[in-house]
Amino acid sequence: MKPTANEEPITAEQILPHLKNQIIGRGIYCFRQIGSTNEHLRRLCRNGEEEGAVVIADRQTQGRGRHQRNWHSPPGLGLWFSVLLRPTTFLNRLGLISLLSGLAIAEAIAEQTGLSPKLKWPNDVLLNSKKVCGILAESEIKNGSADISLGVGINVNHRKKDFPESIQQLATSLYLETGAPIDRLHLLVKALQKLEKFYRLFLNGEHEKIRRNWLRLCIHNEMAVKVASGETIIEGRFQKIDENGEMLLQDASGKILKVRSGDL
Ligand code: BTN
Repeated sequence: MKPTANEEPITAEQILPHLKNQIIGRGIYCFRQIGSTNEHLRRLCRNGEEEGAVVIADRQTQGRGRHQRNWHSPPGLGLWFSVLLRPTTFLNRLGLISLLSGLAIAEAIAEQTGLSPKLKWPNDVLLNSKKVCGILAESEIKNGSADISLGVGINVNHRKKDFPESIQQLATSLYLETGAPIDRLHLLVKALQKLEKFYRLFLNGEHEKIRRNWLRLCIHNEMAVKVASGETIIEGRFQKIDENGEMLLQDASGKILKVRSGDL
């Protein structure tokens, strides 16, 4: 069966009546097609855009993933959007923003579908061990504030054949996991509300709450893992994340290693 829930591009007029946020969604820019929502948001940011701006595209022609990968972003099937955050406090803890964004999307998915998403460090959202959402946080720090373009890609109504063959075994969608088409507009509104909720915790210094909630959903707690970090592969047992969102691994000799970025 082909999903049929709102395949038309989402508009700002549809979003606004549902969104009760104070920060995220102050400006909403919707496109039928764009290169990359992150790229567009960064342009807006350079032109002085306010914190909370959201750029949404029905289709991206040059969607970007982490580590310079492409992000397949076909029309009518997913949610491809970016949110501008400009925190001026806790700049030494920006790693937590990456984590809280995965957490927010996991909560939104759980509430809308009844599914139980898990998190893979730093911010992949998984269902049945397959990726349903990827997040790309790109930051520039200057003069005591950070400009963060938080790009979110959620696979919503894809059938298996809608994914490129190379990722069909690794990726999933909400439609594939529930068997029912999902309303993209309501999922988007929920995602923006959850992002606001967790971003406010960050701004209020409630970092332990973010860390605890993230660990509750972590799929690889205490497991042996390998992390590709630059040219090196680091192996160890995942212990937890520290107060900055960095991963703590215990190597074979018992030493605790800190990993700030990498691919698990
Ligand atoms: C990943 O590799 O897991 C991150 C994927 C992030 C994809 C989203 S889709 C919306 C936003 N715009 C982009 O070009 N990328 C992000």
